[in-house]
Amino acid sequence: MSAESTPRDSEKHVVVLDDDIIVLRATARLLRAAGMRVTPTTSAKEAMEHVVCDSADAIVSDLHMPELGGHLVLAMLARAAPSAARVLMTSETDFARVAELLVPYSVDALIAKPDAAVKLVPMLRDLLSSTRGTSTTRGDNARAHARTIVRALALREYETESHCERVAAWSKRLAQELELSPTKILEVELGALLHDAGMLGVREAIIQKPGPLSPDERFELRRHPDLGAALLTEIPVLAGALAIVQNHHERVDGSGYPRGLLREDIPLGARIFAVADAYDAIVSDRPYRRGQPDASARQEIASVAGVQFDRQVVDAFLRIDVVDWLLVGQRAVGQATDRPPAPDHIDA
Ligand SMILES: [Fe+2]
Repeated sequence: MSAESTPRDSEKHVVVLDDDIIVLRATARLLRAAGMRVTPTTSAKEAMEHVVCDSADAIVSDLHMPELGGHLVLAMLARAAPSAARVLMTSETDFARVAELLVPYSVDALIAKPDAAVKLVPMLRDLLSSTRGTSTTRGDNARAHARTIVRALALREYETESHCERVAAWSKRLAQELELSPTKILEVELGALLHDAGMLGVREAIIQKPGPLSPDERFELRRHPDLGAALLTEIPVLAGALAIVQNHHERVDGSGYPRGLLREDIPLGARIFAVADAYDAIVSDRPYRRGQPDASARQEIASVAGVQFDRQVVDAFLRIDVVDWLLVGQRAVGQATDRPPAPDHIDA
């Protein structure tokens, strides 16, 4: 069955799917009170039709349903309507077990039913204001510029788009956890996305060299943070990302480059990026080793808090729920078109 909608043209349209009519009505009431246009339904088929045919902005689906599990509904919609945000709501308390059911990249966020009253509206607002929409806000404009640069990097086969998207999304999540202002959070996201923009100014022969670099070649490579910063001064909408790009190889113990800055002398955004980047490096497959599991990455990063990484950033990282963190990473790579990365000496 399908209950009535409350159309308000300028508002976001959310389809809610749940076979429990009491939960369905309560969820619909909650979202309407937040100013959203809601189409509640108990039918998976109707829900999919509304999302695909009416171009709904989001769907919130129950997991356990008699006809078709919510995780399968969302997996189908990930293909049929990829721009709609997809939230899976569940009464299961073990999120790790639920996460095992999910088709990769099919769910943007998980929420426990008891948390919905407090968390669902902010979660949807965050998803609907992220990169998937077509709005022309300042953030979207800046992201569009940044992604053009990231694609240029990917064409040189230095960096993969998915790596840049993942570290940007995780850096943004860390900035949110640290309760930075919306402007700062956007700067952190853009800076992380563009961290290696300066590699565009490094010779192809160095980027693609399979063996160890000579001292001169290493010197040239290590100019890329400054080259990136210089590039961004030419693009005013990306100026906020400059500090992260210029300092993304600094380390809190002073052993980084190009300036060997210490602790708080390194901009906070760059200290945030360092943790997100290290996490991605540990869990990603390399030609000579398999990626490590999430738990190993957490342990390794925690072990060098205060030495290699900023302690308050590591604390924020460890506070974030593991499933939340993994979904942020999955969502980020949903639309990247990857090519193989350059030889591994580049990060040295
Ligand atoms: Fe770099």
